[in-house]
Parts: sequence; C-alpha cells; structure tokens
Amino acid sequence: MLFLPLTALLAAASAASAQDIEYNSAHNVTPITGTWSSGSKHVVTGTGFANPSQESFTYPNTTGVGYAFSDDGWYEIARYRFASNASEPNCIIGTVVWVHGTYDLLGNGSIVLTPAGDGYQQVQAPCAATSNFIQNYNFTELMQSWQIFMDPTDGPKLHLFQFDGSPVAPLFQLSAEPNMLPKQVLRNVSGTVVTTTSDGLVTTETQASRKRKRSAAPELKRPMGAIAGLVGAALLSAVL
Ligand SMILES: *[C@@H]1O[C@H](CO)[C@@H](O)[C@H](O)[C@H]1NC(C)=O
Ligand SMILES: *[C@@H]1O[C@H](CO)[C@@H](O)[C@H](O)[C@H]1NC(C)=O
Ligand SMILES: *[C@@H]1O[C@H](CO)[C@@H](O)[C@H](O)[C@H]1NC(C)=O
Ligand SMILES: *[C@@H]1O[C@H](CO)[C@@H](O)[C@H](O)[C@H]1NC(C)=O
Ligand SMILES: *[C@@H]1O[C@H](CO)[C@@H](O)[C@H](O)[C@H]1NC(C)=O
Repeated sequence: MLFLPLTALLAAASAASAQDIEYNSAHNVTPITGTWSSGSKHVVTGTGFANPSQESFTYPNTTGVGYAFSDDGWYEIARYRFASNASEPNCIIGTVVWVHGTYDLLGNGSIVLTPAGDGYQQVQAPCAATSNFIQNYNFTELMQSWQIFMDPTDGPKLHLFQFDGSPVAPLFQLSAEPNMLPKQVLRNVSGTVVTTTSDGLVTTETQASRKRKRSAAPELKRPMGAIAGLVGAALLSAVL
C-alpha cells in the first residue's frame, strides 16, 4: 500500500515549529489555519457534511474537496468524487470521505496528516462484487509541499501537493476560522470486523454498516457537471 512507507517516515520526521514557515507574497501569504474548499465550494468540512456517530453523509450538490486546519494542530478533510474505472469507463466509482486528526508542518515545507482513527468512507463501485459500502478510512498522508497565493478575485488560495507531487485542486479560503467537528474521536471503531470480498475492496466492516447489513448504503447520484471531478482510476487506487 502506498501509505506504508509513511510509518517509517513519521518516526524520522521531526516536526518543525510553525515559525519556521516563511510567510511572504511569493510563497505563503497567510497561515494555513482556516476553512478551504475547491471549485464551487460546496464540499465543506464541519457539521454539514459528515455525521460520524451515524456513519452517514449529507451529499454535497457538487463534487470537490474541503480542508480545515486549526491553530492547535487539528485537520479535517471532506471529499466527494467520482472516478472512472479505466478498464470499464462506464463503471463510475463514487467515493465520499470524512477524516480528521492532527497535522505537523515540517521544516522542509511538507505536511504530515495523522488520522485520529475514526475516519470513514462510502464507496459506490457499480461493477464490483460489493457495490456500495462504508468502511474505515485511516491513512496517514504526506503533502510534499503547500503554498498560499493571493488571488486577485478569490483571495487566499491554498495549493497542496500530495506525496507523489500531484496537486490537490486549488482550495479557496471560506473563512480564516476552521469549520470542524469536535477535535476528538467521534466514532467507536473497536467493534470493526475484518472481512474480505472477491474483488478485494472491502477490508473492514464498520459497526454501523454491519447493523444495516441488509440495506445498502444510500445511493450516490452523480451531480450534474461531475465530469470535471472525474479522476483516473490510478489516482483512485491511492484512496481505496
Ligand atoms: C520532508 O521530510 C519528510 C520526512 O523526512 C519527507 O518524507 C519529505 O519528502 C520531505 N519533503 C521534501 C519536500 O523534501
Ligand atoms: C442542494 O441543492 C438543493 C436545491 O437547490 C438544496 O435544497 C439543498 O439544500 C442542497 N444541498 C446541499 C447539501 O447543499
Ligand atoms: C489510525 O492511524 C494512526 C496513524 O497511523 C494510528 O496511530 C492509529 O492507531 C490508527 N487507528 C486505527 C483505529 O486504526
Ligand atoms: C473495474 O472494472 C472491472 C471490469 O469490469 C471490474 O472487474 C472491477 O471490479 C472494477 N473496479 C471497481 C473498483 O469497480
Ligand atoms: C465500542 O464498541 C465495543 C464493541 O461493541 C464495546 O465493547 C465498547 O464498549 C464501545 N466503546 C464505547 C466507548 O462506546
């Protein structure tokens, strides 16, 4: 799995204090603290997106991604997207992700995001054996670098570059305050059951999804214009 080397990385990484980060017009015009959202700004962290105790989501009207970073080291991610299956272009895979935890701004310009363990995602893969399910989502992520520019019309714009250098869609600042769910573990994952399916997609089954075993997770309906949100299946494999 792509994320495995990060465990070693984490042990080696020494967290730099925030004052090592340079704030200037060429690089970071503002601190990273606040609420950020891509595109049409409908995918936003906080109460309107995920309800962890129910393992449910309120699906935004458009695809996109939202991030929030707090002064005291917490992050939250909300992500809603559809990706085409390279070998079967008609098989559009939808994923909805909620995760939070703590972040470290490293002195070399990278960010390490360490999840709290209560994140979850819904995956709708119409061509797979198990077509719609909810599973735990607990990946440590490395952002190689980040930059905040001042956009003349949209204001501060955050660019995050993932572990492999690929960019996250540009993020607009909705607020300098972080819009977040409570900064603590919000879901009991201790009852998680490990299962496997023939397609290898499901590795864990959460308590809530187990309770409603007979009724599948709510159907994801691709929003109009979601084509712009399509990412290649290669990228998706980084998420599953
Ligand atoms: C920063 O340091 C971390 C941990 O050593 C490393 O994984 C990452 O690749 C480094 N980032 C850059 C931009 O070199
Ligand atoms: C989506 O759009 C509909 C119609 O404009 C609106 O009623 C609904 O609240 C929106 N949903 C979200 C999650 O923003
Ligand atoms: C989630 O990931 C973090 C970081 O790797 C780890 O410390 C934690 O034990 C994990 N939590 C669960 C519930 O797997
Ligand atoms: C992609 O399509 C192939 C061929 O139909 C299918 O076997 C596979 O399960 C699909 N992958 C996902 C994640 O839906
Ligand atoms: C979490 O779930 C396990 C298994 O169902 C249960 O034994 C435990 O008491 C629960 N913990 C909390 C804090 O609810």
